[in-house]
Amino acid sequence: MSGVRAVSATNRMDTMRRDVLAGLSASPKTLPSKYFYDEEGSALFDRITELDAYYPTRTERGIMEMHIREMADAVGQDVVLIEYGSGSSDKTRLLLDALPNLTSYIPIDISAEHLERTVQELQEAYPNLVINPVAADYTKPLVIPDDPVRRRKRVVYFPGSTIGNFKPEGARQFLKQISAVIGMGGGLLLGVDRKKERSVLELAYNDPEGVTAAFNLNLLVRLNRELGADFDLRAFSHNAFYDEEQGRIEMHLVSACDQAVCLGEHLFTFHDGESIHTENSYKYDVADAVDLAATADLELVRDWTDAKEWFSVLYFACAKRL
Ligand code: AVJ
Repeated sequence: MSGVRAVSATNRMDTMRRDVLAGLSASPKTLPSKYFYDEEGSALFDRITELDAYYPTRTERGIMEMHIREMADAVGQDVVLIEYGSGSSDKTRLLLDALPNLTSYIPIDISAEHLERTVQELQEAYPNLVINPVAADYTKPLVIPDDPVRRRKRVVYFPGSTIGNFKPEGARQFLKQISAVIGMGGGLLLGVDRKKERSVLELAYNDPEGVTAAFNLNLLVRLNRELGADFDLRAFSHNAFYDEEQGRIEMHLVSACDQAVCLGEHLFTFHDGESIHTENSYKYDVADAVDLAATADLELVRDWTDAKEWFSVLYFACAKRL
């Protein structure tokens, strides 16, 4: 197995600084949610997935456990499995168990450290599996390291409703990229969190244990440490709510007073109650997801859900001629 391929740390840092300066200069202020996932943020996210209030992870896992045979049949034999945002590759083990004839597994994650650890653990559990990890921001164009002649069918696994972080236009672009990566006849196994009762959605992002609040605030901890900003952590608080019209959860960090924050030579002022919009988490009904995917030449083959219809796993085939 090759080591994790990573973009240089300086490079990544420059991009982050640029993104952060742009977001804090915008009105209203924003920060990209992909920066949640440093070492601490990834660990906090893993804790979120185990919370009673946060139903998506266990619901998706339940759907996978229940229907893994059918999913494996849809994916097929001798395929290259590519996972976007692999994190701990937890649910992936279900797929790996059900797909003993995989050509290779390519986990892609923005956190090189997280990826390194996950790959080690997976390689121990699956000694015969060819793993080609890629540490990269998968929202940018990327090179898939394996099988240059592309004789093998490629299937992208994109679980966790991570697609929900994109605005609809971004999601369309992203799905088009996936189509280009898998090509005609390739597959996409996609997890989406469904629209549902506001109280259920809002509790999932306002857990009583405060782990989601810590996850949100950790973004400022990271900016202080890595970019030398001086956010006062006691002067910002977590806020998350469902915007039914847009069909999305919004997460914000709200300033508790009039204040100014330094980042290098830049000064950002906040008035009392002003917020930084840190995340969107769009919710999709099956029909919404199907319409979205159609714009990227992805056709629904099968879909699975849980008894409450809180989450769906969808398998699409790419009908795009390259
Ligand atoms: C990983 C983007 C799917 O939107 O539910 C969890 C991230 N944010 N709690 C989500 C998240 C707050 C999560 N995704």
